[in-house]
Amino acid sequence: MASETPCVPSSPTGEFADMDIAHIRRQISALDGYAYLNVAGAGPAPQVVQDEVMAWMEWHNQNLGRPGLPDRTHAMLHQARSSMARLLGCTADEVALTHNATEGILLTAWGRHWEAGDEVIITDQEHPANVVPWHNLAQRYGIRVRMVRIETETDPLLVIQPLLNDRTRMISISHISRETGRIMPIKRIARLARAHGVRLLVDGAQSLGAIPVDVVDLGCDYYVWCGHKRLLGPAGTGGIYFHPQALEDTLPSWVGWNAQAQWNGKNHAFLRRAKRFESGTHNYAVYAGLIRAIDWLEEVGLDAIWERNAMLDQLLVARLQQKPALCLKRPASEASGVVGFSSGDNNHKLCLWLREQERLVICPVGQAGIRVSVHFFNTQEEIEHLSLAIDRALDENAGVQYG
Ligand SMILES: Cc1ncc(COP(=O)(O)O)c(C=O)c1O
Repeated sequence: MASETPCVPSSPTGEFADMDIAHIRRQISALDGYAYLNVAGAGPAPQVVQDEVMAWMEWHNQNLGRPGLPDRTHAMLHQARSSMARLLGCTADEVALTHNATEGILLTAWGRHWEAGDEVIITDQEHPANVVPWHNLAQRYGIRVRMVRIETETDPLLVIQPLLNDRTRMISISHISRETGRIMPIKRIARLARAHGVRLLVDGAQSLGAIPVDVVDLGCDYYVWCGHKRLLGPAGTGGIYFHPQALEDTLPSWVGWNAQAQWNGKNHAFLRRAKRFESGTHNYAVYAGLIRAIDWLEEVGLDAIWERNAMLDQLLVARLQQKPALCLKRPASEASGVVGFSSGDNNHKLCLWLREQERLVICPVGQAGIRVSVHFFNTQEEIEHLSLAIDRALDENAGVQYG
């Protein structure tokens, strides 16, 4: 199967060897006492991010009504768009701030005129955030939601392509599946979509910060993400990227004062940039925290982060593959940092047992069964610990009872 995302992003210097993991881990209090292998659920914010949120809250409150506050606040929010744009390879004007990934999907879903019979393609590996909005449109406007099933080794294009027809309006798909950890071949899907005049929305909640993302190179129309997973930022932050064409013709559905460029008492003109999709007052402090989180990741080094993430993923996959009782739910080489697998009908019990007996945090998830997710702050020791603990749990001869 053709793969477009490098499994192990190249880092000419092999920098991650120089990463001071012990120092990094000391800055993340959530790592105390537990092996935290659930960054796909929530990313633990380092202390500098927590401090920045508190400092902004304090500064803002102390300076209410003082000169300079609106300008500085405005500049900080612009900085938040710029920081995210830097990660995505686009401009700040193409990015709107959102409160989470779901809001980006909703902005897209409600950003066009739908007619009964219009079709949207999604996959069976999506978070409900990328399912529920489309079903809502089906109820409201009679659109048809077509869900493709992607087996572990299926090339997603082979199942998407046959569904395309003259009623298809949108493909909405995760970059990295939160269930299996599958990396979808977005660039190829984008080419296919464009050739059929279909819009492509990519849900990047699991990818931004985990693997390199370049929205221009990917060729998608919309890319959405949240700040509180791989970016290790505060909850309640996120964003959406609009391709220039999508920026031009997507309808703003929740228009508020942020959308306005001019108002003459009778008519108003919308901003041309993506900010027009932001409605009202933001929670300033959390965006300041997100800027700090991105700066912190860049200080650690994004290439090094991606490389270490891939290394840990491949170690984890190798260990899981050694256990015949487990069934891996994604191609082994797609090193996303998210690994879905099943242990049969005892997935929930196994996760619970591992947390309570071994202080290992992993997560039961959807159809895949169990999800382990790693990030650069995890260690090889944690993965070896998980591997041995799973062996203990599965080994009936050892007499370990779980559940
Ligand atoms: C792939 C994916 N999409 C969307 C979401 C929802 O994110 P949010 O709560 O930021 O809207 C998640 C959260 O787990 C996710 O994993």
